[in-house]
Amino acid sequence: MTETLLRGRLLTFHRDPAGPDDAEAYTYLEDAGLLLRDGRIAASGAFADVALQAPHAPVVDHRPHLMMAGFIDTHIHFPQVQVIASWGAQLLDWLNGYTFPEELRFADPDHCARMAQAFLDQLTVNGTTTAVAFCSVHAASAEALFAEATRRDMRMLGGKVMMDRNAPDGLRDTPQQGYDDSAALIARWHGRGRNGYVITPRFAITSTPDQLEMAGALAAAHPGCHIQTHLSENLAEIAYTAELYPEARDYLDIYERFGLLGPRTLLGHAIHLRPREIDALAATGAHPVFCPTSNLFLGSGLFDEGGLRARGITSGIATDVGAGTSYSMLQTLNEGYKVLQLQGQPLHPLRAFHWATRGNAEVLGLADRIGTLDPGTEADITVLNVRATEAMALRAERASTLAEELFILQMMGDDRAIAEVYVAGTPRKAAARGAARIRHPEPA
Ligand code: GUN
Ligand code: ZN
Repeated sequence: MTETLLRGRLLTFHRDPAGPDDAEAYTYLEDAGLLLRDGRIAASGAFADVALQAPHAPVVDHRPHLMMAGFIDTHIHFPQVQVIASWGAQLLDWLNGYTFPEELRFADPDHCARMAQAFLDQLTVNGTTTAVAFCSVHAASAEALFAEATRRDMRMLGGKVMMDRNAPDGLRDTPQQGYDDSAALIARWHGRGRNGYVITPRFAITSTPDQLEMAGALAAAHPGCHIQTHLSENLAEIAYTAELYPEARDYLDIYERFGLLGPRTLLGHAIHLRPREIDALAATGAHPVFCPTSNLFLGSGLFDEGGLRARGITSGIATDVGAGTSYSMLQTLNEGYKVLQLQGQPLHPLRAFHWATRGNAEVLGLADRIGTLDPGTEADITVLNVRATEAMALRAERASTLAEELFILQMMGDDRAIAEVYVAGTPRKAAARGAARIRHPEPA
């Protein structure tokens, strides 16, 4: 048995705060103890009380920092580590000009292994402990991601993209091969350790109807797997999709017809929706995923979180690296705040931090395991430092409430504000940062 007792300020959510004054939606403690035992949270509460339960446990004192559940990123592309920050294009040109050529490199398992390490290091230094990842079309890319996540005991969800048209040679599977490779990866990785497989038809443009039918059959055969794809991100994408599927009532109808919609479905972007599509999202329980840095970077449009929430639809929030421009969920919340401001929907910091933790866990149906600091859940923890930079420290001198502190983190924070990250109870930040420095030493 290994035990560690963390001491610090603590914030954990019980539900989405209805507003700034909804104090019952969360627990905030000034001097908390968090007892970690064998990768799980064994106890949490006032430090003096928790310390009595484990008098011999080594104490790690994080005061004055703030302990929170590890961040969850519900949409990110593992093979786009070296695509991030590619200039000038909107979605379809960006895919053809930058992204597909880069994803071709993942035919090489050595490249997959190196990028998997780099990818998980970037998540870790940014305080993200679980991600839902698109891999490349190559089974080896998913293999590398799950193998590396297993080595680190990270809770990781992901899947190889299924794509059998409108992509270059070397980046297409066939309906049968996409099915077989995905089924083999499910057999090997789904439910093994902390891994979960996500059935991943990339989007309607890169899948024939035959392939989407196979994806639907795979989902029916494996109801415990999540499903992820893209929906209504960009107007040119929507027009081309309508040409490819003339019989569909709208974009979402394509996925609906092939049995791909349900509470385990994650739909990246979902910006330009018609009323019928919103009805179908509400009826099926599928989850849109808001990717603010990506939507601004590619000029895709403004995600209407408030409108969807009013219809009972719960959305995830995610980085979408490499169209997204930062691995940081803090920066994602920052840009998300601005996208929602443009629509008169100011994102309160308590809602923002709920969203990046328990909210995303709920979207994944995993809130009983991750996303909170509740006893019995997995010990994935992010420790936040609101004075990480001088600019933040200056601003923090004038902050007197928790909400103000959170908003400084949301607007000004990035990887520097992550003081420590625990993955299944093990501190990981220094190792991840060290590995990144070895890969890329700073110039003398
Ligand atoms: N639509 C289909 N593939 C992608 C992708 O890789 N990134 C984004 N942002 N949208 C997509
Ligand atoms: Zn995406």
